Amino acid sequence: MPILAALLAVTFYSDVLPILERRCLACHQTGEAAPMSLASFRETRPFAKAIRDAVTSHSMPPGGALPANELAVLQQWAARPAEGDSPRSAVLPVKPTVRPDLALRMATPFLVPASQTIDYQHFILPTGLAQARWVQAIEIRPGNRRVVHHAVAFVRTARSEFLRGGRLSVEDEVLATYLPGEGVLRLPPGQAKLLPAGAELVLQLHYTAGTQSETDQTEILIEFGPTPLERVYTLSVAQGDFSIPPFAKAHPVTAEFTVQTGVRILAVTPHMHLRGRSLRVLAADALILDLPRYRFDWQLRQSLRKPIQLARGETIRLEATFDNSRNNPRNPDPSATVRWGEQSWQEMLVAFIDVAIPAAWPPEEIYRPKRF
Ligand code: HEC
Repeated sequence: MPILAALLAVTFYSDVLPILERRCLACHQTGEAAPMSLASFRETRPFAKAIRDAVTSHSMPPGGALPANELAVLQQWAARPAEGDSPRSAVLPVKPTVRPDLALRMATPFLVPASQTIDYQHFILPTGLAQARWVQAIEIRPGNRRVVHHAVAFVRTARSEFLRGGRLSVEDEVLATYLPGEGVLRLPPGQAKLLPAGAELVLQLHYTAGTQSETDQTEILIEFGPTPLERVYTLSVAQGDFSIPPFAKAHPVTAEFTVQTGVRILAVTPHMHLRGRSLRVLAADALILDLPRYRFDWQLRQSLRKPIQLARGETIRLEATFDNSRNNPRNPDPSATVRWGEQSWQEMLVAFIDVAIPAAWPPEEIYRPKRF
């Protein structure tokens, strides 16, 4: 087919909308996290060039680049945005939900002031559970999606020092995370997470200010399930001792964690702050996550296509670089020496690793060195 004819052939309703339905509308629909709806020709047309730029630079969709054929269709359409025949309503993706057996909400609304940098906020939510329960699904539901940038819910044990003068440790399990378009974690039948009796949740919220002040009161909704075969435990593999020199372009930091028992790795959620530049995660020398350009906005949980079995004594290794130079547009202060801290002008190197272990095992088995 001559090139011009091929270009003319691409239209919104026959070629573009099916791709948007599959890849974009989970977030780009009214009421969801993305700033504009892309559910019709009329709504999408003004963003044709922005869409071309975003997909060509791989900044959208956030989970990874589009397949080449779909990329080509969007690029061709953006060059000449035709509506095409037979307009129809978009088929919106079904939003996953949880049955809220337990709903925990921030005690009072938090005021997010306009136009300023807001520290990470931590809210303690007691579960009030008299006995341990298995969690099948969990949702962190922002009260106000315009200002909740991301959220993490940790299970804090009675002896943990997290926010009690000490650091986050491997014992503070990550229960769930929220990012735009990714609020619900549902585990497959046979797997569940455990909420111990009397557990407290620490809800960490990162707010981004808008042009006017807003309030937020985020909720955590939990669906309980039956005793599973396997417990899913989320380890944090972290490095707390580092010092990033002023103006460093690619300062390397590594972290290692040796498992004390066999585990199966299911998923990885990376976590660095504004100076994060690149991250590789290796499990016993197999590369399980490779982010040559780490993006602070999009720390998605990535399920492994094939879970990886680690034997006792094998190591999970993080290899990161941090960009403290002026070339990093997000850098709050290139002249600073940067160390570990909860705030976004400080840094972190953490990967939350979801592993499966037999349900009856205490998770300490994974990280407590054995003595013989
Ligand atoms: C997981 C949710 C999500 C998905 C899926 C998604 N977007 Fe976005 N998109 C956003 C959010 C949130 C923003 C606001 C800017 C930001 O936070 O990066 C955005 C911003 C944009 C922008 C504004 C320019 C920019 O790059 O910031 C364009 C254009 C865009 N998205 C196109 C798309 C297209 C096309 C797809 C599908 C191929 C897509 N998005 C899929 C959440 C999503």
